[in-house]
Amino acid sequence: MKIRTVGVVGSGLMGSGIAQISAQAGLPTVMLDVSRELVDKGVGRIEGFLRGGVEKGKLTEATKIQTLSLLKGSTDLKDLSDCDLVVEAITENLQAKRELFAKLDKSCAPSAIFASNTSSLSITEMMTATSRPARFLGLHFFNPVPLMKLVEVIRTIVTEEEAEVAVLDFVRKAGKTPIRTSDRTGFIVNRLLVPYILDAIRALEEGVGTIEEIDAGMKLGCGHPMGPFTLLDFVGLDTTYFIAGIMFDEFKEPRFAAPPLLKRMVLAGMLGKKTGKGFYDYSKESPVPLNHLTD
Ligand code: 3HC
Repeated sequence: MKIRTVGVVGSGLMGSGIAQISAQAGLPTVMLDVSRELVDKGVGRIEGFLRGGVEKGKLTEATKIQTLSLLKGSTDLKDLSDCDLVVEAITENLQAKRELFAKLDKSCAPSAIFASNTSSLSITEMMTATSRPARFLGLHFFNPVPLMKLVEVIRTIVTEEEAEVAVLDFVRKAGKTPIRTSDRTGFIVNRLLVPYILDAIRALEEGVGTIEEIDAGMKLGCGHPMGPFTLLDFVGLDTTYFIAGIMFDEFKEPRFAAPPLLKRMVLAGMLGKKTGKGFYDYSKESPVPLNHLTD
């Protein structure tokens, strides 16, 4: 079992990043979404990233051209029929993912491996929508996909070794380091990361420090590239709230419970960088911390 061609469903931030690194690894890659407009937006994001890489001297013009030539945007599921691996990166909705996988199951070769980029939903619940549970895994990439070195490879209790080995090879070929884990909500990274960033909010609510102080504490004191509030704004408060909810449902442990402030910010549409406001206001030249949030 060898992965020679890749399909990615979803052309958002994660999907386009996954399609990019796959094509960059020299594999013909189809990136699919529901409308031409979304596909074009995803391809545009990849072009922009590759252009930036050339400008920074990180990659050559020839690599950029070669990567784009291996990439095909599509809105037709049939274009994935020859793919050896199909990675799903659509919205975090179990029902939508199950419906997609059921359709893919009919249109793709029986030998194709399916993977989901979910951050918290159950791989096992998705795999049961298909007739290929042995060739179904989780492949959890990190944002921004082209820069982050890690990929979590999630096996279920029925994943066959051959499929896992093929996927581990693909991840390494794409220049990433895989870590193997099992289908437990949050896997390894979010199991540790989610309670930590929720605790940062609780610390803020308790007046332990300001947004900048807590961020500086973890950046300068622990060498993290971003403090927890910068990271929350980067990941999206809605995404974090959603993941925390799923983890709380699974484990029923207070450390996964969303603090009241997070819920209120999500309700108020303060979702972080993507909406221009979260723990920081991004409308000025440099982010301004919103310290009134706990007044
Ligand atoms: N092409 C190629 N390389 C590029 C590039 C491009 N277009 N743009 C930047 N780079 C390179 C830079 O040259 C630099 O390389 P160097 O380290 O060799 O000098 C490197 O990428 C970093 O780029 P920048 O200097 O522009 O940016 P920063 O140093 O500010 O780093 C960051 C940006 C990598 C995002 C860093 O802040 C970081 O690691 N943040 C944490 C992100 C994180 O934690 N992500 C995970 C979120 S959780 C998640 O995704 C899971 C989900 O389930 C919630």
